[in-house]
Amino acid sequence: MPALEPRPELLHDVTVTRRQDFGHGYFELYLECPALARAMQAGQFVNVRVRDGFSPLLRRPFSSFDLLADARGRATGISLLIHTVGTGTQLLSRLEAGARLNVNGPLGHGFELPADPEARIIMVGGGIGLAPFLHLARQWAPLKRELVLLAGARSQRDLAFMKRFGGLPLSTLVATEDGTAGVKGRVTVLLEAELAALKGKPAVIYTCGPNAMMAAVSQMAARFSLPCFASLESAMGCGFGVCNGCVARVKDASRPEGFRYAKTCVEGTVLDASTLLW
Ligand SMILES: Cc1cc2nc3c(=O)[nH]c(=O)nc-3n(C[C@H](O)[C@H](O)[C@H](O)COP(=O)(O)OP(=O)(O)OC[C@H]3O[C@@H](n4cnc5c(N)ncnc54)[C@H](O)[C@@H]3O)c2cc1C
Ligand code: FES
Repeated sequence: MPALEPRPELLHDVTVTRRQDFGHGYFELYLECPALARAMQAGQFVNVRVRDGFSPLLRRPFSSFDLLADARGRATGISLLIHTVGTGTQLLSRLEAGARLNVNGPLGHGFELPADPEARIIMVGGGIGLAPFLHLARQWAPLKRELVLLAGARSQRDLAFMKRFGGLPLSTLVATEDGTAGVKGRVTVLLEAELAALKGKPAVIYTCGPNAMMAAVSQMAARFSLPCFASLESAMGCGFGVCNGCVARVKDASRPEGFRYAKTCVEGTVLDASTLLW
């Protein structure tokens, strides 16, 4: 039975050191929090208390976007890439350097490195679902693995933050639905070409974005017999296993209905895509 309160050691009072705006409601919040940064793995998330008081009542979950370090490489904090969609994100979009926030994290399980050292690592992100892949690329860059990022969005204006991926050793390809950047079409167009070019070479796919996109990515991975892991961003309540607000259906042949409900905040957010009922 999970504890009904967040674990005290995972509650951090952090300081906002900077806010960078990318336009069209996208912004990055830099948070100073060395203890959290040392513990945080790419694909994990933090649940942020947006402000003191009862409104909004629930914390808001965000993936870590970047891992911040000082000149000597010591972890100093994390950043969050946020798209303004409602009250909580609007409040966060107004924070200035010096503001204090309480965050609960790291929560959930992050991305796991493929056991096969030859496996090409293919990250497929859609829109704000690209957020965990900067942290992932930074985390795995020193391992000298082949990293590919396929980035999809509606339009170029939804990708202004992509400049933050500059300088990392990864090949990036872009697709936009309106054709204003990269290839015109969905990100799965890029994935199909990437997987066809593998010609049997091992690869593992990691995906995060809208459910429909992840379902399509998962289907394509199955068609090419490749492993695929999806970071689910189901709406959440508590973030630590108490409220059942975040469940996803996972195949389970031992049950008459053929599936069970998994709490994505504790079993995920990264789950084997082939086990999910999309
Ligand atoms: C594990 C996890 C990681 C996330 N990482 C990021 C991130 O890195 N950057 C980012 O900008 N957002 C991320 N999100 C989504 C983010 O938590 C929501 O956008 C945010 O909570 C909305 O709060 P709000 O008060 O502004 O909007 P609300 O007023 O709560 O909602 C506004 C609108 O957004 C919709 N909405 C709220 N939450 C979600 C959701 N999870 N998925 C789809 N639609 C939603 C609501 O249905 C409503 O239509 C993540 C969510 C999860 C669960
Ligand atoms: S968000 Fe409460 S159980 Fe997952």
